[in-house]
This record gives sequence, structure tokens and C-alpha cells, in this order.
Amino acid sequence: MIYAANFKTNHTRESTKEYITDLQSKLGDKKPEDRVFVFPPLTALDSFEGDFTIGAQNAYPVENGAYTGEVGVEQLSEFNINTILIGHSERRDTIGESQEQVAKKFAFFKEQGFEIIYCIGESLEVREQGIEAVMEHLVSQFEGIDTTYDNFVVAYEPIWAIGTGRSATVAEIVETHNALKQIVDKPLLYGGSVKGANIAEISAISNVDGVLVGGASLKTETFLELVFH
Ligand code: PGA
Repeated sequence: MIYAANFKTNHTRESTKEYITDLQSKLGDKKPEDRVFVFPPLTALDSFEGDFTIGAQNAYPVENGAYTGEVGVEQLSEFNINTILIGHSERRDTIGESQEQVAKKFAFFKEQGFEIIYCIGESLEVREQGIEAVMEHLVSQFEGIDTTYDNFVVAYEPIWAIGTGRSATVAEIVETHNALKQIVDKPLLYGGSVKGANIAEISAISNVDGVLVGGASLKTETFLELVFH
């Protein structure tokens, strides 16, 4: 299983350092085949070492240059970061990244050999139209994406389940993940209100290869509850 912590715009440099130190001291007992990722805010990136992978929540698809307010590969390389989240719904919908921009970012970081956790997900409006509409939407989010890329993990995150406390049901996850695996045969994470109370049933689903976690990842206690469920 993959356990990925997405801090979003939470935690400082100092509290991230404390988090990572605490996490590392407790990861000794994790199953060797399990992988843990942490995506801190950009200002908290550092050369952390341990039984986990640190990734960037976002970056601009350049080495360096005149892109005010952005970071490129040069800034990530300083901390040996070669993992990135691309396509999160908060970047698509709140920040306004188009599929074209997302695909450009994907192509660039693929070229750099980055491990890419690529997020897709539908709105409640689409979900209410049924599985066909959902799949049509999810397929459209693979437009311009090389789904055969080796270093590629997909995260299915229904937007209506993110940060709402309302996870998708087991039946919804089973149906959607089964359909997605037919299209893209890559590790497939579920995200959206994953927490201690639902990790057992979600991780037991055969086509769920891991979880991408926001709220419940912010404290090591609640994140480790998932890793050691
Ligand atoms: P959540 O966020 O766990 O707080 O629902 C998940 C995510 O956006 O990755």
C-alpha cells in the first residue's frame, strides 16, 4: 500500500521538521512493501532522509527562469525532490489549471524522470449523473497524459469527498477503481476523507493500491493510524 500525506497549505518549516522527525521514529515497524509519501508546502521542503519519499505539491514546468512566484526543477533538486503531485482538483478548480496546462506539466516532469502522482476526480454534479458520466469525465482528465509512463501513480479523488468528511462509499470506490484499472494499469490511490474510521474498508478493496490523505495526514498520530491500521 501507498500512504501519501498532502499537507496542502498547512504546516510551517518548523512544524514539518518536527512531523518528519516523529514520523521517521515510528516508521521502523511499517511493512517493507508499503510506501509513505509526504507532500509539505514548498517552503518546508528540505533534504529529509528516512523511510519515506518527500514530494512537491506543485512546481512550474521549467528548470529555472523568469516565472515570478514559481519554483522549477533547480529549486527542487537542491533537496533531491523528484516526486510531484500533478492535477489535484484544488489546482484545477480553485487555481484554474486547465487540462492542457496539467498535461504540459506532466510531460515536462516525465521528461525529468520524476515520479508523478496524478490526480483525477469528478464533481458531485457529474457523480449524480451516474458512472458513465463519471468515467467520461475521468477519461477526459487523461487527455494529453502518457499513461504508459513507468514512474506514474494515479490518485482518484472525487471532489465532493475531499475535505468534506464524506468519503465515497465502498461500492462507489470499487466500481470506479475497477473501471479505471481497465484504462490505466498503474498503482491507483483513493483520496477523499480517508481517516482512521474508514481506512480498513477502503484499503481492503482489491483495486485500491493506496490512499492520498489531506486532513487526517496533518498530525503524525492520525496519519500513522492509517499506515498501521
Ligand atoms: P482530505 O483531502 O483527506 O482532507 O479529504 C484529500 C486530498 O485532497 O488529497
